[in-house]
Amino acid sequence: MNDKSVAVVTGGNRGMGLTTCKVLAERGYHVLMGCRNLEMGEQAARDLREKKLSVEAVKLDVASLEDINALAIYLSDKHGRVDVLINNAGILIDGQLGEAASICDASADTLKRSFEVNTVGPVMLINALLPLMRQSGSANIVNISSGMGQLSDMGGQYAGYRISKTALNAVTAIFAAELEGSGITINAVCPGWVRTDMGGSNAERTLEEGVDTTIWLATSGDNQQSGGFYRDRQLIDW
Ligand SMILES: NC(=O)c1ccc[n+]([C@@H]2O[C@H](COP(=O)([O-])OP(=O)(O)OC[C@H]3O[C@@H](n4cnc5c(N)ncnc54)[C@H](OP(=O)(O)O)[C@@H]3O)[C@@H](O)[C@H]2O)c1
Repeated sequence: MNDKSVAVVTGGNRGMGLTTCKVLAERGYHVLMGCRNLEMGEQAARDLREKKLSVEAVKLDVASLEDINALAIYLSDKHGRVDVLINNAGILIDGQLGEAASICDASADTLKRSFEVNTVGPVMLINALLPLMRQSGSANIVNISSGMGQLSDMGGQYAGYRISKTALNAVTAIFAAELEGSGITINAVCPGWVRTDMGGSNAERTLEEGVDTTIWLATSGDNQQSGGFYRDRQLIDW
């Protein structure tokens, strides 16, 4: 069993997920880096361990119930606790499966796949890890959403991505209502436009800027608000 606080980060092998793993480990957490390709994850974990950080790669495709259940069993047997869960893994595939990015051309496959990874995966993972988080007595969940899912500022294009992130925001609010008084907080974050494979090289923010609010929410103490949507450590409209 681990004496350190334990954090689970999905999509931990690259982009903001990898930076989140690094910063949490620098803050003293033992971090499980969820990766759908374990080989890529092992390489990323080795690089961090060379910096003396406490991390391990675990196989986790968030669209796979088998992976999610196996991770829950592994965590229960090996660590016995979960203190932080970052639902970071995400896809933006509108326009990549042969259709244009307009909702008028959206394919059912794109909508369903976006929903499966960006919305359903986080719900299934939270549910699988909730018993361990309840045991910890206090835990913080952060769902990485996007301003593109903000109903109050909705634009055109990228329907699969937008809808799935709006739904992730709803997931956040529903869990917050049901977990009230449990010691477990859950919040959604828009990281801003960040230089990653998804954000592209013209994006405004560095990886460190992109993960700042996530780390702040994940590592805050017991008095923290739950059920909010944050950017730059400030509440924003849904
Ligand atoms: N970058 C931005 O400007 C921006 C803005 C707003 C919100 N966001 C959100 O921030 C989060 C991180 O984005 P990013 O920019 O770091 O993206 P990224 O560089 O494209 O990385 C995405 C990560 O998600 C993983 N992933 C994708 N599908 C998965 C699945 N089914 N199971 C497990 N992991 C999966 C990828 O793994 P593989 O390596 O195996 O593909 C990768 O590790 C996402 O939720 C994204 O929607 C990003």
